[in-house]
Amino acid sequence: MKIKVVGGGPSGLYFSILAKKALPESTIRVFERNAPDVTWGWGVVFSDETLENFQEADYETHRAITTTFARWDDIDVHFRGRVIRSGGHRFCGIRRTQLLETLQRRCNEIGVETVFTKEIDRIEDVGDADLIVAADGINSKIRSQWSDFFRPDILTGKNRYIWLATAKVFESFKFFIRENEHGFFVVHAYPFDRDLSTFIVETDEVSWHNAGLDQASEAESVRYCEGLFAQELEGKPLLSNKSSWISFRRVKNERWRHENVVLIGDAAHTAHFSIGSGTKLAMEDAIALAQSLIAERSVSKALDLYYEKRWLDVAKLQRAAEVSQSFFEDIQRWKRFDPDQFAIKLLCRSKRVTHENLRVRDESYVANVDRWFADHNGCKDVNPAPPPMFTPFRLREMHLSNRIVVSPMCQYSSDDGTADDWHLVHLGSRAIGGAALVFTEMTDVSSEARISPGCAGMYRDEHVVAWKRIVDFVHRHTQARIGMQLGHAGRKGSTKLEWEGNNEPLDQGNWPVMSASPLPWSKQNQVPREMTRADMDVVILQFVRSAEMSAKAGFDILEIHMAHGYLLASFISPLTNVRADEYGGTAENRMRFPLEVFDAVRNVWPSEKPMSVRISAHDWVPNGMDPAQSVDVARLLQQHGCDIIDVSSGQTSPLAQPVYGRMYQAPFADRIRNELGIPTMSVGNIQNWDHANTLLVSGACDLCCLARPHLFDPYLTLHAAADQNFDVPWPNQYLLAKPRPKS
Ligand SMILES: Cc1cc2nc3c(=O)[nH]c(=O)nc-3n(C[C@H](O)[C@H](O)[C@H](O)COP(=O)(O)OP(=O)(O)OC[C@H]3O[C@@H](n4cnc5c(N)ncnc54)[C@H](O)[C@@H]3O)c2cc1C
Ligand SMILES: Cc1cc2nc3c(=O)[nH]c(=O)nc-3n(C[C@H](O)[C@H](O)[C@H](O)COP(=O)(O)O)c2cc1C
Repeated sequence: MKIKVVGGGPSGLYFSILAKKALPESTIRVFERNAPDVTWGWGVVFSDETLENFQEADYETHRAITTTFARWDDIDVHFRGRVIRSGGHRFCGIRRTQLLETLQRRCNEIGVETVFTKEIDRIEDVGDADLIVAADGINSKIRSQWSDFFRPDILTGKNRYIWLATAKVFESFKFFIRENEHGFFVVHAYPFDRDLSTFIVETDEVSWHNAGLDQASEAESVRYCEGLFAQELEGKPLLSNKSSWISFRRVKNERWRHENVVLIGDAAHTAHFSIGSGTKLAMEDAIALAQSLIAERSVSKALDLYYEKRWLDVAKLQRAAEVSQSFFEDIQRWKRFDPDQFAIKLLCRSKRVTHENLRVRDESYVANVDRWFADHNGCKDVNPAPPPMFTPFRLREMHLSNRIVVSPMCQYSSDDGTADDWHLVHLGSRAIGGAALVFTEMTDVSSEARISPGCAGMYRDEHVVAWKRIVDFVHRHTQARIGMQLGHAGRKGSTKLEWEGNNEPLDQGNWPVMSASPLPWSKQNQVPREMTRADMDVVILQFVRSAEMSAKAGFDILEIHMAHGYLLASFISPLTNVRADEYGGTAENRMRFPLEVFDAVRNVWPSEKPMSVRISAHDWVPNGMDPAQSVDVARLLQQHGCDIIDVSSGQTSPLAQPVYGRMYQAPFADRIRNELGIPTMSVGNIQNWDHANTLLVSGACDLCCLARPHLFDPYLTLHAAADQNFDVPWPNQYLLAKPRPKS
């Protein structure tokens, strides 16, 4: 087979070595535009796991790499005069030139032809080939030439960074964070051999301009950074190598192959340097492509197999890299954090490393962080420090014994709104299960406000009696508090029980629905009537009546549902509110009616009891609500006396394209909490106690709401305590089953 490779970087060279080894009869020629010893950048990082992959793929290359690299275990975060160290990370760094020399040598040894100082401008320039591998990096000309087929999607980051090195050899991975009169600067530094360390300086656009770095030459930039980080560099100089201030570009491609041309490495995808995985991805692509050629006789099938093998791992890593990138882009949001909390926030930024992962790596580090969290959250005298989820929390006069909340979940099991035995057992068992706070499902303020005929309500006297029975049970038999979520379905009303057809109108007996604007949820749903002022007055009175009834039933907290596309949400989102009056248009106008409801309810809800509001922080639809706008919504709610924002997202439009992932809505709660200084609850794919601890300790939220995990395990919190060897009270009736604490 005749293989032509464009680009002699890590991906092109490594692929050539592996392919030649596997298919010795093939001819492989690599075209590299630079001379063999010319390259940019300094050191690259690999984890132990990545090195294992290399060992399996080509032992010789692995040995050559591992004899020259620098190893470290610790990550140090230098922030506001403190150095916080966490251990057990096990990485190694290698000089990029060293890596390339090793790969070039290995190519020569096994008969791969390398053609240096030969730039390939067009695919045709490589001559005839059975397979053309485009390994020509982030600015791939081959990708551009065939962009109609590959369909690249390139996103430029907000920050600027410069890739430098220093003769100061650090003993660990370092994050140096410094603020000066120009702004905020972060260094990512790590050793990569006996003489040098990589030193990447990153800053935001404003700081970069303020410091005059937009006008600075390479030498001036180096001098500026040397001055700023003089203390960390301890007199050692910074070194540059064709270094300039650039913005990271995230590359994705819809397709990675067309005909016999295939993209690998940075040409196919990039991952932000803060998770140090670009070279890893590039070399793992090389492994997968070579393996696919061995497995499949036809080139076409091999290229499809290569994509199949790689796309998911790459997508996951790119997602983690994007989250990490946005941490550094928004880093000033957390600059007032205490260094202990700032450091763990940084370490857990991509959500691939969690509180529990860190404990496995370095138990004493996590013990220190837990101590810090406990001391700052009402547990100074508790020894050892409780896991973050078992610290108490208080809102007005409501005291919670831990941070776990049973999220509201419709049960579709009421008759004309009356909660029954199902609700008693459902909510009662979750309260027995140890959650600090249990929310009712969205409970509707009138019979027309219901989503379905099975939805719960708080609009008839019988409803108070039914709810009071449940509230009394929870108060009498458990330590939990119980919250009422009040809502009005708006245009999403008059539909079937969830399991009979989500959002589908009833076959018969539909009732009229209303919304901010006369826009139906979907073609099959009713066109809602646009609410008049008179309708608004009625709805406000209904909310007030339901709030008074909830107080009478003894609920501890009242939440107003302004999320998920129901009536109040329909006012907030510009997608569903196209009104021309003072209730439509600007964000403030769109919040006017929801705030009128909030104020009226707050007025009658007992002042010692807190109120929360659930919002959809993201519509996940272009031109809809986004996390930045949701901060403005939360600010208005805060100004009106809301105690805590329950931050959900989506379900406001059938066109939504949410990007799911673990804890995927937590960044929205984090942003609101830390930009406004208001407590938040986070919800959405918080799958377990480790996730909850991670979010709490890193200051992303104050309470963690879990919905489906509580359907799976009503005793989730008691089980979490046992798993973490933490003693919590069990109901007397169940004491015989309580696990003994491990010493
Ligand atoms: C600041 C910074 C820090 C980084 N840190 C790390 C890290 O710590 N760990 C890590 O794993 N990765 C890191 N990376 C990413 C890493 O450098 C790349 O992901 C990796 O080099 C990709 O390998 P590649 O072979 O696909 O592309 P490249 O290394 O870019 O190689 C492409 C090659 O193709 C050649 N070429 C381009 N066009 C042509 C043409 N038309 N004709 C002929 N030749 C051509 C180029 O000269 C180059 O040699 C970092 C990147 C940056 C910018
Ligand atoms: C069966 C079910 C019913 C739900 N009903 C409500 C509800 O009444 N009110 C509400 O705000 N959210 C409701 N939700 C959304 C959840 O409260 C939660 O936000 C969502 O399920 C994401 O959390 P999870 O990943 O922990 O399940 C419901 C979710 C489920 C699974």
